[in-house]
Amino acid sequence: MRKTILYLIGLLAFLTSCSNSEKTYRIAVSQCSEDIWRHKLNDELKMGTYFYDNVELSFASADDSDEKQIEQINQFVSDGIDLLIVAPNQVATVSPAIDKAFDKGIPVIVFDRKTNSEKYTAFIGADNFEMGRLMGEYVATQLKGKGHVLEIMGLKGSSPAIERHNGFVKAISSYPGITLVASLQGDWTEESAVKAVKEWQQTVGGDLKSPTYRIDFVFGQNDRMAVGASKALSQSGTKYCGIDGLPGEGNGIECVRDSVLEASYIYPTHGDEVLQLAMNILEGKPYEKDNRLMASLVTKDNANVLLLQNEELVRQSHNVDLLHAQADNYLHELNYQRIITLFLAIIIFIIVISGMIIVSNMRRRHRLERQAFSMVVNVPESEEPVEKPSAQEDHPHITKVTPEEQTHLEAGADARFLEKLRSRVQEQMGDSDFSVETLAEQMGVSRVQLYRKVKTLTGRTPVDIIRLSRLNRSKVLLETTDKNVSEVAYEVGFTAPSYFTKCFKDEFGISPSDL
Ligand code: FRU
Repeated sequence: MRKTILYLIGLLAFLTSCSNSEKTYRIAVSQCSEDIWRHKLNDELKMGTYFYDNVELSFASADDSDEKQIEQINQFVSDGIDLLIVAPNQVATVSPAIDKAFDKGIPVIVFDRKTNSEKYTAFIGADNFEMGRLMGEYVATQLKGKGHVLEIMGLKGSSPAIERHNGFVKAISSYPGITLVASLQGDWTEESAVKAVKEWQQTVGGDLKSPTYRIDFVFGQNDRMAVGASKALSQSGTKYCGIDGLPGEGNGIECVRDSVLEASYIYPTHGDEVLQLAMNILEGKPYEKDNRLMASLVTKDNANVLLLQNEELVRQSHNVDLLHAQADNYLHELNYQRIITLFLAIIIFIIVISGMIIVSNMRRRHRLERQAFSMVVNVPESEEPVEKPSAQEDHPHITKVTPEEQTHLEAGADARFLEKLRSRVQEQMGDSDFSVETLAEQMGVSRVQLYRKVKTLTGRTPVDIIRLSRLNRSKVLLETTDKNVSEVAYEVGFTAPSYFTKCFKDEFGISPSDL
């Protein structure tokens, strides 16, 4: 019985866990840096999860450190993630860690920055060579094909720095009047540009005043470095441009609107598309290996419109956030109610099944006891005791009784007597004070009459019948319940378990504890 209940509780746990059995995909995002561009991307990735209820995102930022990023990727791999989204800090150093993850069978999406191997599932990002080239065209056109240009490069060894440089150089090389005075090394931060420009000025020293070093345009490979250069360069009349074109206070688009920068290029983040790509891969849907995001130029002409559009976008995504939170609450509530309903259904199921088991056990025990009693009294078992004679049969003056009928009536009276004896004994055997005297009184005869009648009908004495009935019931209880020997001994009216054990052994030849 206890085992059955345990099985049912196990079933409950199983069914509860099945109620939310859809696989949850664990996607890890390894960011090379921590900055506003990456925050925007992370927020969009999170928003992308609103369309799925089976995604779990984990983020890690390497703070521009290759070692840290390698460690974080390895950790993600050993955590057993389902997919890795990664922007590698520097190509050569971080690529082997990404290869390792890919070799372990983890799908890899490389975004924004590239690796130097083919071991990835898909790439998504803008074309950095093309953006560098378009910025070169823009600068050359602004300078009408003649002037001095300074470039501030992003982190050495990172793919956008290499590709933006190559594109930029390619574009301006078609303009013989344009001179690239220097390509200074930065690391994508504003401070790195300030430092690079100051150091360069010191190197050039007094020559800075000569026309050779007069800088007409600075191309910062991102907006932050372009702004840093504008703060550090001690020349007037120089123009600046960068890449990223982020909305928000003090970012690229505002800098263009406020004429700190001449232009910027929107370097798209599109986190929702990155997540969509990840889900297509995980769910076995079709996807492209190479996914290029469109970029576009920001100038004073469109900066205001872009900022207004962005304000609208921020407002709408705030509303989407609120709606999502509401839907989330509603879903939680629904889920909770589903679990409660399931729980109640299973409890009712357990109660019904337990009831059925109890009733069937009781019936079985009852049947076994009847059989045992029939054996005790040495008469065949009968479910239906012979009918009591009818009123007519009670009055022989109305109809004469034949000798056969008389024998039948006597047999019926004996059967009824034995049935009454059985039910009295079985009802009261649990009472250790139950005695032959009590039994005789209840049967409406004297002790001696009881002895004689019982002995004649069954070949046993009443004391024997009580003792054997107790022992038979104890055997049934030991065989059909989890009760121990002492509990059973008391239940069938023995006052000492040790005496019960002795009687049981004498009767059945085995110890009750062997059952
Ligand atoms: C942000 C950032 C951007 C730049 C990109 C290149 O971390 O530095 O400013 O455009 O990364 O990967």
